[in-house]
Amino acid sequence: MAKGFFITFEGGEGTGKSTQTRLLADFFEKQGYSCVLTREPGGSEGAEEIRNLVVKGAVGRWDAMTEALLMFAARRDHLVHTIWKALDEGKTVICDRFADSTMAYQGFGYADKGLGQQAVQTLYDTVVGNFKPDLTIIMDMPVEKGLERALKRDASSNRYERMGLDFHRNLRRAFLTIAEQDPVRCAVVDATGDIETIQNDIQNIVRKRLLEKGGK
Ligand code: TMP
Repeated sequence: MAKGFFITFEGGEGTGKSTQTRLLADFFEKQGYSCVLTREPGGSEGAEEIRNLVVKGAVGRWDAMTEALLMFAARRDHLVHTIWKALDEGKTVICDRFADSTMAYQGFGYADKGLGQQAVQTLYDTVVGNFKPDLTIIMDMPVEKGLERALKRDASSNRYERMGLDFHRNLRRAFLTIAEQDPVRCAVVDATGDIETIQNDIQNIVRKRLLEKGGK
């Protein structure tokens, strides 16, 4: 059986992550990989309960540190009950958001009220340890376009979609900085095109960086 990979998708609101993760999971299944499609915050019973706490309610409900701790609590539960288990069974795991979202949202989204890089990294080292994705796809598009799409899809909007343009501009900058700092793990994909073109770009990256290297 082929060894599985851990692939994460990151980016701002409305950048098409869910659609592209689904299509990539189909692609992996066709290649003979057994694939688990999951998301954060969530992806396990406990983490889905925590998700409700962070995505619903008033915008200012949590400060950045409380929010980051909730995200990492959810992440730990997700790793233990879903991600590590599936990888141990040789499955490929595709995850809609992971720790780069905590770095972008709680680290940098709130500008001077954010935690910054070092604090989020310290939490990561404690909770996740040396484990990291084999590949992270960062979906990039102008924030106005992404927000418009997100709000069209979901009229009731989650807390983060209501956070204002400056917050979302900080996020976009943060994701691009993360990609610059770790170019071996991360690849930025232009998310403004049509669904098939974007999926093609993603599959080319996956072939080059993971499949042609013959697995781990
Ligand atoms: P989703 O709508 O993309 O599924 O994600 C729910 C929201 O949670 C999204 O607006 C981004 C936010 N989020 C964080 O703020 N920090 C995190 O670590 C993660 C995983 C998500």
